[in-house]
Amino acid sequence: MRSLEENGLRRALHPPAGIDLSSNDYLGLADHPRIKAAMAAAVEREGAGSTGSRLLRGDRDSFGLLERRFAQFKGTERALYFSSGYLANIAVMTTFAEAGDVVISDQANHASLIDGMRLSSATREIVAHNDVSAVRRALEASGAGGERFLVVESLFSMDGDEAPLTEYAELCRQAGAHVIVDEAHAVGIYGARGSGLIEERGVAEDVFLSINTAGKALGVSGAFVAGPAWAIEYLIQRARPFIFSTAPPPSVASALYASLTVVEHEPERRERVRELAATLRRRLSGAGIPTGNGSSHIVPVLIGDNDATVTVAALLQRDGFDVRAIRPPTVAPGTSRLRVSVNVHLTAEVIERFALSLTSALTRVGVRA
Ligand SMILES: Cc1ncc(COP(=O)(O)O)c(C=O)c1O
Repeated sequence: MRSLEENGLRRALHPPAGIDLSSNDYLGLADHPRIKAAMAAAVEREGAGSTGSRLLRGDRDSFGLLERRFAQFKGTERALYFSSGYLANIAVMTTFAEAGDVVISDQANHASLIDGMRLSSATREIVAHNDVSAVRRALEASGAGGERFLVVESLFSMDGDEAPLTEYAELCRQAGAHVIVDEAHAVGIYGARGSGLIEERGVAEDVFLSINTAGKALGVSGAFVAGPAWAIEYLIQRARPFIFSTAPPPSVASALYASLTVVEHEPERRERVRELAATLRRRLSGAGIPTGNGSSHIVPVLIGDNDATVTVAALLQRDGFDVRAIRPPTVAPGTSRLRVSVNVHLTAEVIERFALSLTSALTRVGVRA
């Protein structure tokens, strides 16, 4: 505890307060009346809890219905719903990557992917962030023996930049390797249907599995693994986080079914998020505040020092903006930052006020001249 304190790494729990610039509720669906009504009606109909694992008495028709709907939305043969994205990633990595296999992993990948790889018996090759040449070299060096997997986030959660999916798809097709894509922050936002960056970049044919969290843009909770029918069946038979855990409350399935309907019928929500993100990025770079290599609704403001990052976040919170400091181990040492996220409820006026507040806070801690 003391070393956490001394290094500016002690965390505290704080419920939401102020204008939301930090949640993952990009489309504003967590509070959508149709989704809440679907959830409430399902609680009345099916009760509060599922009462068991899906493979025992915890299964319901609503889960199957939702999974078929999600597979259709994603354009895959099948999908399987997990109670969280963390568990879905553990499930994918421990079920498919076996001893003798090699998993090539972007160094900025989420902790849940890293933990899944650590729990699997495969060899892990970490490559520099978004480095296509490094992936090519890793594929060449791991030619013989077992299966090879490339694991990336399509939109990186703390950097807000995209993986070069087109290049990776091509490389892995040539090498006979399998691409696994975590679409946590892209599902709901990208693609004509809103199904994510796999859709937007047109690489579905070359992706083995995707993980699609449902507690971010979809506004509820849990995650879908989507892919070929045989792989989903294999997960049902083998994935320990699926087998040995109580199924989520059935009402969550009804809420998510409604959420997918909203995503499909209200594309203007994702268009608005992308417009607002462009406005915020333009405004900050105009003020000389760099926001990384991305163009997305996740806008990192790199500060570096842990304490300075916490101070800037506190100054913004004092001005009424709910922005949180992101520090190691969530990001690499020396790269502490604010992770500003854009949601559909923001306005150009709020963005302007936020930019002024941020500029003044950064000046106060000496990050800008
Ligand atoms: C890239 C990525 N994958 C997986 C997860 C885990 O998802 P969940 O919050 O549903 O456990 C997150 C959430 O922080 C994430 O950012």
